[in-house]
Formats: sequence, C-alpha cells, structure tokens
Amino acid sequence: MSNRPIIDFDHNSPAFAADPWSVYAYLREQYPVAYTEAHGGFWVISSYADVVRVARDDQTFSSVPTTVIPDSGVYNLIPLQSDPPDVQRYRMALLPYFSAAALQGYEPQVRQFTRECINEFIERGSAELVTELANPVPSMTALKFIGFDPQDWHDFAGPLHQLSFSPDGSEGRQRALEDIAAMDGRITATIEERRRQPRDDAISDLIAYEKDGVRFTADEVHGLVKMLIFGGLDTTMAAASNALLFLSEHPERRQELIERPGRIAGAVDEFLRFEAPVHAFARIVTTDTEIGGHRIRAGERVYMLWASANRDPQQFEHPDEVDFERRPNRHLTFGTGAHRCLGAQLARLELRVMLEEILRRLPDFRIDLENVRQPGSVTIIWGRMALPATFTPGKKE
Ligand code: HEM
Repeated sequence: MSNRPIIDFDHNSPAFAADPWSVYAYLREQYPVAYTEAHGGFWVISSYADVVRVARDDQTFSSVPTTVIPDSGVYNLIPLQSDPPDVQRYRMALLPYFSAAALQGYEPQVRQFTRECINEFIERGSAELVTELANPVPSMTALKFIGFDPQDWHDFAGPLHQLSFSPDGSEGRQRALEDIAAMDGRITATIEERRRQPRDDAISDLIAYEKDGVRFTADEVHGLVKMLIFGGLDTTMAAASNALLFLSEHPERRQELIERPGRIAGAVDEFLRFEAPVHAFARIVTTDTEIGGHRIRAGERVYMLWASANRDPQQFEHPDEVDFERRPNRHLTFGTGAHRCLGAQLARLELRVMLEEILRRLPDFRIDLENVRQPGSVTIIWGRMALPATFTPGKKE
C-alpha cells in the first residue's frame, strides 16, 4: 500500500470553476486516487474504472447521511441518502413514475410546457433561456406528476437554484436553506391534505403504497416526495443550459441537428457526457478498503467525479470532442449501481423535446456570450445561471 498522495483540490474554489476539465485531466494522469484536505478532507477519485468500482460497491461505500461535499445540510432525500436494503424498497415505490408507459404519457405534456414557454418570448426576439425555458420545463413536468401545481414552479425551483449556485458558507446558501425549510413545510402540509383527500398523483400513491403489509412512515413519504423535487429540477435545467450554450457557440453543429433532427437524441446523451450537470457525488467508507493501491479507512469520504470519468480517454475515444454519434456512450452522468438515477429517461425526454422545439422555432438563436452567467463555484450542479439570447422573432403556436 502506498502513502496517500495529498493534492490541492477544492471544487468550490473559483479557480477550479474556471476550468475543471484541465484539473480532471491532470488528476487522471498523475493522481487518479488522491486525498485533499479541503472541507475536512476527502479522497478524490477521477478515473472511469475507479468511479464505477466505488459506485457499484454499496456495502463498502455508504450514502448516509449525505452524498455531497461539503454537506449541504439538506437531509431526508430518499432513496439518495439511504443504503441497501432500503434503497431497493424505496426505488420500487418510485418505479411507476419512470416506466415506459409513464414516459409516453409525459411527452405531450413536456411538449406543451415547452411550447407555452416559447410562446411567451418568441414574438419578442429575445429571451433569457434559463429562466424562461430550461428552468420551468423540467420543474413543471416533475411538479405535475408529483402532485403540485406546475404554475408554482418558481416556489420550488427558486430555492434549489439558489442552493445549487451558492457556495458553502455564503449568504445565498443560508437563504436557500431557509427557503428549503419553508418548502419542507409545504411538502408536509400537502401530504396531510392528500391523506384526507387523495388525488391522482405521486404524493397520494406514496401515502397509500404498501408492500408486504408495510406502509411508509410520514417521514419516508416526505423524503420520497422531496427527492423527486430535488432530483428532477435543477439537474435537467443545468443540462439544458449546457447544451444550448454549446449549440450557440457551434453554429455548424447546430445546423447538423436542424437538418437531421433524428440526431438530437444522440446529441442529448453526448451533451450529458461532455458536461455532466452533477460533477460528483460522495460516499462514506464503512470498512477499511483499498482503491488503486491506496488504503482508505472506515469513516473517510470518497468523492466520485462523474464529470471526470466521462472524459477518461481509457473509456472514451477523443473524450474532449463532442460526437453526436458516439456509440457506445456509457457515460456516468446518471451514476451507476444501486442508486443509478431513476429519472434518466425522463431527463433525456425533456432535453430532447426542448432542443427539438428550440431548433425548430428559433433556429438562429444567439446567446450573448458576454452576459452568460457562469457559476463561480462548482457546488452540486454544473450549469449556466443565465443565458440571454436573441433570435429572429416568430409566431405563437
Ligand atoms: C440531467 C438530469 C439528471 C442528472 C444529471 C441526474 C443525476 C443523478 C445521479 C448522478 C444520481 C445518482 C446518485 C448517487 O449515485 O448517489 C441520481 C439519482 C436520482 N435521480 Fe437523477 N438526475 C437527473 C434527472 C432526474 C430527474 C428528472 C428525476 C426525477 C424527476 C431524477 C430523480 C432521481 C432519483 C429519485 C434519484 C435517486 C436514486 C437512488 O438513490 O436510488 N433525476 N440522479
């Protein structure tokens, strides 16, 4: 066993946010398994093979109490912050919302939300594509099946957005946590309402869900509902913002998708690989173990860099190029193993529909690069905060 290599790595630092990709390339080559003393100390795992190994070993690597570094103070996200055998029990209850039949039902809804959002700005010839499209469409879609009024999307997306883009210890983070506490109150109140008067939504189903004669506790129902909100909003927004920026910066690649819309689905996966909207998740080591010849002790934290694994040349040819026809494309943007993202297909659907409609209705959109708002720190989500754009005005549909 070799000594622990200590690296100077802080994903929350502004220098890192300016170019995480070169840091990842350096780590993969020089220090694929290394230790940083930032945020109380944790192991940083950057190669595809090691990230897969950790993510698939949920006995040795636990998701309790949190999967983020530094701990955001947001808890009761179920099944994210749980370990086997509970994970499987919880996931079973959520599966119906992500089945092929459910997805078929969501598509017209996603298209309608997208159409309505675009109608709001198409005559203007300008829009802020994050606030007016990338944020509301996934938010409204998720809130609707969960059982909240989609028109209230801002009440939910606002605090999450604030949480995602405010560094630990900042005033913005503090405000976000207060707003999330208020959101918790709203979730509890809505669960109580549905207990009295069930509707056709996920909240009512989860209250009534029973397996082997056992129902979820009130806390579990709360955690499942909260996870659906946390999983489904900011992540997809970030992915859409990254894709739109790429297409604005590469008009010839955009033209390729306008002429061949059949390639959009493949492009979506490639955008997801190229810039993973969740750069990393953490695990806590349950028993002494070893990764890449380094001894890792029980109680230590391990940070799995999905975003770096996605650029590992051992796994992907020309990983720094965007290839819409990349096959296979086994990126780790949705994780792998017991906790693999349940919403992956829904996210793909939302991203495809948003890109299809944008490319059809405002094919010449140009993002004002000077005024793109980039996060100054990679906290949990990697995406753009504001994308001001102009385009030839069109008609409402
Ligand atoms: C591009 C968009 C998305 C990305 C990048 C993403 C990413 C992820 C990742 C990396 C995990 C694995 C967590 C881990 O290993 O600890 C995860 C889990 C999860 N995601 Fe997503 N997600 C996205 C969209 C969605 C959507 C749209 C939903 C639902 C509306 C959703 C619901 C969930 C749930 C419920 C889990 C927990 C699964 C478990 O712990 O067993 N996600 N997501």
